[in-house]
Amino acid sequence: MNTSQVTTTPITTAPVTTTPVTVTVSGAAGRISYSLLFRLASGLVFGPDTPVRLRLLEIPAAVVSAEGVAMEIDDCALPLVASIDVTDDVDAAFDGANAAFLVGAKPRGKGMERADLLTANGAIFREQGRAINSHAADDIRVVVVGNPANTNAYIAHRHAPDVPAGRFTALMRLDHNRALSQLATRLGAPVAELDGVVVWGNHSATQFPDVSYLTRRGEPVTSGLEQEWLAESFIPRVAGRGAEIISVRGLSSAASAAGAAVDQMREWVQGTPGESWTTVALPSEGQYGTVPGVVTGLPCRSRGAEWEVVEGLEIGGFQRARIDASVAELVSERDAVQGLGLTD
Ligand code: NAD
Ligand code: LMR
Repeated sequence: MNTSQVTTTPITTAPVTTTPVTVTVSGAAGRISYSLLFRLASGLVFGPDTPVRLRLLEIPAAVVSAEGVAMEIDDCALPLVASIDVTDDVDAAFDGANAAFLVGAKPRGKGMERADLLTANGAIFREQGRAINSHAADDIRVVVVGNPANTNAYIAHRHAPDVPAGRFTALMRLDHNRALSQLATRLGAPVAELDGVVVWGNHSATQFPDVSYLTRRGEPVTSGLEQEWLAESFIPRVAGRGAEIISVRGLSSAASAAGAAVDQMREWVQGTPGESWTTVALPSEGQYGTVPGVVTGLPCRSRGAEWEVVEGLEIGGFQRARIDASVAELVSERDAVQGLGLTD
């Protein structure tokens, strides 16, 4: 299939109250997208009054399967779906895109680390960064899901010099949500009462889920989080959750990843509530001793539809060592992709 053969399904029921947003999803025939696309089409990300034009990008061998997914979206008769395009043409896919979920990539199998996918997946993000730079709308917002997500986002960002760096993010909201859920169970508290979690660093086994600023109903949490439990149970459980899912389910996480991608883009566009923050991986400006340019998990609030890194948090010795270890891994991934010729 090429650009001239893009399959477009115009839907005539969309309301015209708001200008539609054009949303590109790569890997549209895959498992995460099968969960993600229906949530996007339902208005969960851009709001109940905003129609969406969906662009489904796939490799040629999976275009027919993506067309099947598009048929199912049609069959939901969702009023916010303005159109659905299916294509394997990367330039057409990002033409005028306001938002992009870069999901299309190979998942790891049992016994692999996410960084083992760099060679297989890195070139995809070079190509998509270039296409975003040339064709996307000025307000493009990118969430990279395909692994290794941070370094893939770094590659894409490096090939899109005309797009503000902060528009390229990688998905660490899944790690954030995993941390919140583990803490809620430990404390016997509803997730909604907890705030102040951050997952520093890389979406990898070195990530540092940090509870130093945790609050429950606005008050610091002072019991139930003993250092031994944190170091020996909580941190490895959250950091190893992707591998645990693969080992138990036999496949990598999909619905939870899609849910986290929805959370990340929704709060980016619609704002984070009050003074709450979340974890977003984005090109660092050196905050908290991290390395500029490297796509790093940091505490962020969304203000005016842009991510702002929360400043001024105190960092103790235990935190410093954990953050530095994960950032060092990101630097080694950055150097590896440079060695592979994927960046300058
Ligand atoms: P999947 O194998 O079910 O689907 C991947 C899809 O991507 C396939 O349909 C494939 O044809 C497509 N694809 C491959 N190359 C492409 C390209 N160049 N352009 C467009 N599409 C392309 O995999 P999945 O379970 O949906 O996972 C996708 C990725 O997301 C994997 O890399 C996985 O490791 C990663 N992931 C990340 C997180 C996270 O939190 N960051 C969580 C879960 C999974
Ligand atoms: C996850 O964290 O579930 C994903 O990144 C998939 C994986 O490889 O662990």
